[in-house]
Amino acid sequence: MKDVFISPSILSADFTKMGTAVKTIEDYSDYIHCDVMDGLFVPNISFGPKMVKDIRKICTAPLDVHLMIVEPERYVQTFIESGADILTFHIEATKKPADVLESIKARNIKSGLAISPDTEIDTVRKFLHLCDVVVLMSVYPGFGGQKFLEKSIERLDRLTELRNKVNPDALIEIDGGINLSNYEEVIAHGADILVAGSAVLNAEDPISVIKEIKKIQ
Ligand code: DX5
Ligand code: ZN
Repeated sequence: MKDVFISPSILSADFTKMGTAVKTIEDYSDYIHCDVMDGLFVPNISFGPKMVKDIRKICTAPLDVHLMIVEPERYVQTFIESGADILTFHIEATKKPADVLESIKARNIKSGLAISPDTEIDTVRKFLHLCDVVVLMSVYPGFGGQKFLEKSIERLDRLTELRNKVNPDALIEIDGGINLSNYEEVIAHGADILVAGSAVLNAEDPISVIKEIKKIQ
């Protein structure tokens, strides 16, 4: 069986107890997913580089920073300095995805594009060779706790096929509405990294959810 990685999104944590939430899950998480929202690219505002930097100080797991901001090129350096280990941004948010991917790769961290639910999968084709990760959004970006969009399975198939052809080393990350009832299906359709926000952070026992997804004792 292939490796499956889990990246719990702290967007669903109680922000007044962020440190405790991170410490609870870090030993069982492959990454900690940090959702950065600017109120422009998406209709919500979450947190910025200081939160990432403060989490970095207390957290041993790598940080998977998902930028949902317009012109992400303005903040690449800031988030790398804050401690991002993976930095992804939306293909819809910039006119120069290749330049942004290259500028992230030059800093020796992993880079990737995120694709919103209404964006053609094929738009990433010409940038795929520069991606370590491609984030397929399975909800409209902006909020945690939304329902998984069923059309994402077909889109995942298309992205998996494209990835296998163009850059088999790139990992596919699926983000939005992942829970214990659908994680097996998205893995079967090619997902390598599973983001899970509410399903993990709002669970009574977050670790048991992670263990079930990763099939560990
Ligand atoms: C949505 C975010 C997601 C979200 C996932 O804009 O990018 O990462 O926090 O949360 P759940 O798993 O609750 O859908
Ligand atoms: Zn996200």
